Amino acid sequence: MGKREKFSSRLGFILVSAGCAVGLGNVWKFPYMCGRYGGAAFILIYLVFLLILGFPIIICEFSVGRGSQKSCAASFRKLEANGARWHHYSYFCMAGNYLLMMFYTMVSGWMLYYCYRCAIGEFTGTVLTAAAVKDKFTDMTASPGTLIIWTILSIILAFGICSRGLKKGVEKITKIMMVCLLVLIAVLAIHSVMLPSAIEGVKFYLIPDFQSIIDNGIGNVVFGAMSQAFFTLSLGIGAMAIFGSYLDKSRSLAGEALSIGILDTFVALMAGLIIIPACFSFGIEPDAGPSLIFITLPNIFNQMAGGRIWGTLFFLFLSFAALSTVIAVFENIISFAMDLWGWSRKKSVIVNIVAIIILSIPCILGFNILSQFQPLGEGSNIMDLEDFLVSNNLLPIGSIVYLLFCTTRNGWGWNNFIKEANSGKGMKLSEKIKWYMTYVLPIIVVVIYLKGYYDMFSSKGIVYMVPWFAVAIIFLGVVFWMAFSRKRKKL
Ligand code: ALA
Repeated sequence: MGKREKFSSRLGFILVSAGCAVGLGNVWKFPYMCGRYGGAAFILIYLVFLLILGFPIIICEFSVGRGSQKSCAASFRKLEANGARWHHYSYFCMAGNYLLMMFYTMVSGWMLYYCYRCAIGEFTGTVLTAAAVKDKFTDMTASPGTLIIWTILSIILAFGICSRGLKKGVEKITKIMMVCLLVLIAVLAIHSVMLPSAIEGVKFYLIPDFQSIIDNGIGNVVFGAMSQAFFTLSLGIGAMAIFGSYLDKSRSLAGEALSIGILDTFVALMAGLIIIPACFSFGIEPDAGPSLIFITLPNIFNQMAGGRIWGTLFFLFLSFAALSTVIAVFENIISFAMDLWGWSRKKSVIVNIVAIIILSIPCILGFNILSQFQPLGEGSNIMDLEDFLVSNNLLPIGSIVYLLFCTTRNGWGWNNFIKEANSGKGMKLSEKIKWYMTYVLPIIVVVIYLKGYYDMFSSKGIVYMVPWFAVAIIFLGVVFWMAFSRKRKKL
């Protein structure tokens, strides 16, 4: 096997990792969650979770990646104590990356399609009613052909970039895309806050309304903020660990993690600042949920002077954000076969293009031909199931795995972890945080994880509650079995 590739610069590592973090979570989920859960009050809780949960866990991922020089497909086996069983988690990690891409590539395709639709003036020129814009969205999701074409386009674009290698493909193109994204954000945010009456939206966004947290149920809001923190940093499935494996030891990992977290938070906050004031300016409630950017916003662009260009730029910004994540996660997926079986990059790219296209099809059909299949209760579809399995299960559970792996002796162990995390120049992680990461953090995640399940299924009745709770208990059981059991030594 050849020598492992390395990033060509520190900036490259930070921008590629931030590109993995910056995605639909920032530009799609975050603004509608803010709109739904009371703006600034939700943001405060979210920031607390980023700091107390996201920050330590991302350092665990980077350390495991750098310490093993492998992706999550092989890192646990390489670092675990003799006879330990952590390596079984590699299968969940790999499944998590594939599952994420099974719906993410489709939504990235939506972004590209909407960019195209805005550019050809589909939302301008004629006055469209809200219902007409909604129909355009429904027409898109009802047509498997349209969805498949745009999904394939996003898959080929991202794999095409990865096929050129880490430095010439992933690092070079992500750097350009992230710089363009930051410029677009600045232009769009300035434009948005200068719209008439936009100031009301800025107030909603920046002044906390704690009553709305009580109205929405504290449990829902706290769980929403926690799962958003996991989702936005792509934690728990080794999506970040891979970039640690391409790093040298010149910098300590806490400082790098902080820069990535700040960039990611900046993009999320600015996305809200683009969307929410625009909603207020045009008298539209920002709590429309997931359809906010596809139904509410095209209508706003429709009424805006120069709406065609603003709409196109906005969806270009969303497309860059989505593609930066797809490229990063594809890089991880490509590395699985390279690390496990020594495949060439080219072979892994070709096999995975075919695999991801096939795996994306159930999600696409869930919006049309298979819409009667409602696995999480009335109104849900296959995308909701895939998102639920990743966001509400694999990300929190995987985060517990990374934490326990880095702190217990059966895993990699605290001493190895802290030595790796603190190697190099820059900010160091304090030894005092050990008890917090070993005992407090995993318990917080388990409690909120089960509470999230309860909130989600308690209203849906026993038929959903019992089987899904069984799934949660099995997941947790497997984690603790992997963490604390060992194969007996033969005498
Ligand atoms: N971190 C990715 C996002 O926020 C998954 O979209």
